[in-house]
Amino acid sequence: MTVNALKQTNAEAKKNRIRRREIRCRGRSNGGQKSSLVCDCTTSGYECWSNDNNHRIRRREIRRRGHSSGGQKSSLGADCTTSGYECWSNDNNRAVIREVVRDMLYVCERKFMWNSIDVGARSAIVKYADDNGENLLFVHSPIELDERTKSEMDKLGTVKHIVSPNYEHVKYAQKWKEAYPNATLWGAPGLKEKKRGKIAYDRDLEIDREAFVEDLQRYGFEFVFFDCESVNNEPFFNECVFVHTRSKSMFVTDVYWNYPEKADEIAMFGWKEKGWKFVMDVLYLPIYKLVLCQGEEKKRRLRKCVEATEALNFDKIVPCHGLIEYESEGVDVKNVLRKHLLLK
Ligand SMILES: [Fe+2]
Repeated sequence: MTVNALKQTNAEAKKNRIRRREIRCRGRSNGGQKSSLVCDCTTSGYECWSNDNNHRIRRREIRRRGHSSGGQKSSLGADCTTSGYECWSNDNNRAVIREVVRDMLYVCERKFMWNSIDVGARSAIVKYADDNGENLLFVHSPIELDERTKSEMDKLGTVKHIVSPNYEHVKYAQKWKEAYPNATLWGAPGLKEKKRGKIAYDRDLEIDREAFVEDLQRYGFEFVFFDCESVNNEPFFNECVFVHTRSKSMFVTDVYWNYPEKADEIAMFGWKEKGWKFVMDVLYLPIYKLVLCQGEEKKRRLRKCVEATEALNFDKIVPCHGLIEYESEGVDVKNVLRKHLLLK
């Protein structure tokens, strides 16, 4: 080797050493913090070695969605600047509306703050075609309707039915009715009367059962009225649990919840939310079963409601609070409901 060749080799080696050192330094220089300077709108924009949550969420999402939507992610509502929709129950972290069953079932997942705890809120949206082939939307337990949500909803179809399935999930009902005056606003049994003058419910799920059959049952919608709980002889939640048989989905607000078991794997599920999960699972659930459903008659009705729900065709539970539960190896969703409500 000539002297010049030797000098060239040494120079190359030095360059490589510097390059390697630079790469190492960059890796540590920000303490592993996320940087928004690598935004890439064609993918998530935040994948990097230090963004562990992103990968965990993706892995979990792929595992959980694999059998229901072909493992595909929806691009609906993707936002590469800042979403404003980040919350622990919003699985891909940016979606305004997320597709769960292709071209049929969608969810809007939002923060719902109670005493600075995000208890989570999810609205389910079913898209179906009427006899004329028009795309119609059924909205279960609506979340807040902002401009972007409305814009994404309008891309999906015409909002035809909006449902407040129990006495608690009523906060945004009037706003949706005003935004979609031609839609039918359904209320849980008694809600239309209870909210008269405040929320313009069109129909009562119990009184107008015939209209439900005509307008919705023929498109695969069913519900079971959980008329099994009360406090001082007044219904408390008075919930109707819905099933859409074509997408094999059950929709539930407060009769069932599913706060994550592996809370550390869920981004933004902090210590307050973990505390809330404990309160709901350990303290409140026995109250529901033993106090709200106190006495042999109410317990008998609770069992009957669970059995009637189990008899319907669904393979996933879409709760307002918590993660969607999918039928999978080792998970029998119908047994999940039974275990939650019937076993001590
Ligand atoms: Fe709730």
